[in-house]
Amino acid sequence: MSRSGDLADLIRDEAGPAPVRLGLILGSGLGHLAGAVEGVSIPYHRLPGFPHAGVSGHNPQLVIGTLEGQRVAVFGGRSHYYEQGRADAMRLPLEVLRDLGADRVIATNAAGSMRPDIGPGSIMLLSDHINFSGLNPLIGEPTDARFVPMGAAYDPQMRQDLAAAAAAEGIAMPQGVYAWYSGPSFETPAEIRAIRTLGADAVGMSTVPEVILARFLGLRAAAISTITNMAAGLSDEAISHEHTKAMAPIGAAKLERVLRGYLRAA
Ligand code: HPA
Repeated sequence: MSRSGDLADLIRDEAGPAPVRLGLILGSGLGHLAGAVEGVSIPYHRLPGFPHAGVSGHNPQLVIGTLEGQRVAVFGGRSHYYEQGRADAMRLPLEVLRDLGADRVIATNAAGSMRPDIGPGSIMLLSDHINFSGLNPLIGEPTDARFVPMGAAYDPQMRQDLAAAAAAEGIAMPQGVYAWYSGPSFETPAEIRAIRTLGADAVGMSTVPEVILARFLGLRAAAISTITNMAAGLSDEAISHEHTKAMAPIGAAKLERVLRGYLRAA
């Protein structure tokens, strides 16, 4: 049995055998969403190989349960490249998600905006990404499966359904391009001007490696940013992790309504 298969068995022993339909990865300041799910919570430290998720504002637990009638797996924290220098840090959790039966994953994150019309407190549905880091979680993967097509990485049907859920809730959720910057330092104003010129609408330190891994594993993927700040140089407000954590819950309330609506309709 594979490592992910063993973990999936362990999780099924605790949470029951019913297959999971969808995974949800919670970003900085969004961890409380795990509390919306009725189910079984397993701390990451009981799942060997799961990330330590040592970033404050994350809640490192896996919750398997029901949200709006759908069986989901909620990852209360993620590992970022900047923690250990590993772009594939979320590979095992995503393999486990696949082994639990899911065919879909939605990643969420906190991000800075480069769009004056998408201000702090907004949520943005990712239409595409720019991998500004130059890193890739599949470097070292020995099989030909590593040549993953990324032409429609952000699943068009999921985007349509999520957009419909937002519209039904009366929540503005513009779509935009997310640029992955490795962090952990924030970007400089010159870097933000550069990635804006390249076509990005928002910037953050996560999600892109997870979406690459999800596509590699055959999972359909979507992602939503909660905008916590204008990116460096675009506003007078100081950028900090404290500010990110304080602002994320504003977008998180909208995010929760969109996700609930999406699951209700699924
Ligand atoms: N840059 C990168 N990551 C972020 C930001 C930002 O401005 N805000 C929240 N996460």
